[in-house]
Amino acid sequence: MNNVKLLELPKILDERGNLSFFQGPEQIPFAIKRTYWIYDVPGGQQRGGHAYRELHEVIIALSGSFDVVLHDGVKEQRFTLNRSYYGLYVPNMIWRTIDNFSTNSLALIVSDQAYNSEDYVRDFDEYKNLKHAN
Ligand code: TYD
Repeated sequence: MNNVKLLELPKILDERGNLSFFQGPEQIPFAIKRTYWIYDVPGGQQRGGHAYRELHEVIIALSGSFDVVLHDGVKEQRFTLNRSYYGLYVPNMIWRTIDNFSTNSLALIVSDQAYNSEDYVRDFDEYKNLKHAN
């Protein structure tokens, strides 16, 4: 899928416990402007269901697991994230939904933009029209 990338993050293995990190520009392909996290998701719920016009993001399963379902206007691809040392890079103009959250899962999302409701495309038909207009 166009420009979507699964990033393997550094892993410092240690008997005292493991450590992973990301920093720009080595691991994250943009300057981080915002960080948020999704937690306490009740069984069966889903988040997202939108695309961003401009925003780029990286999604990490810090704890537990969940699926990131991406659609590029033509095809869909499902990524299961269940390790804290992988980040899924999702560029702008990709429709994304997150579902299948395990109990106590924690999704960390870093993005290159501050929150801006105007940047969201929340209607899938509108998304497809915008996508095919390009
Ligand atoms: P939204 O992005 O729609 O959640 P999701 O895509 O995960 O389903 O955000 C839900 C609400 O939280 C919405 O009212 C806007 C608010 N919000 C912020 O105020 N700041 C943020 O950084 C984010 C991500 C959301």
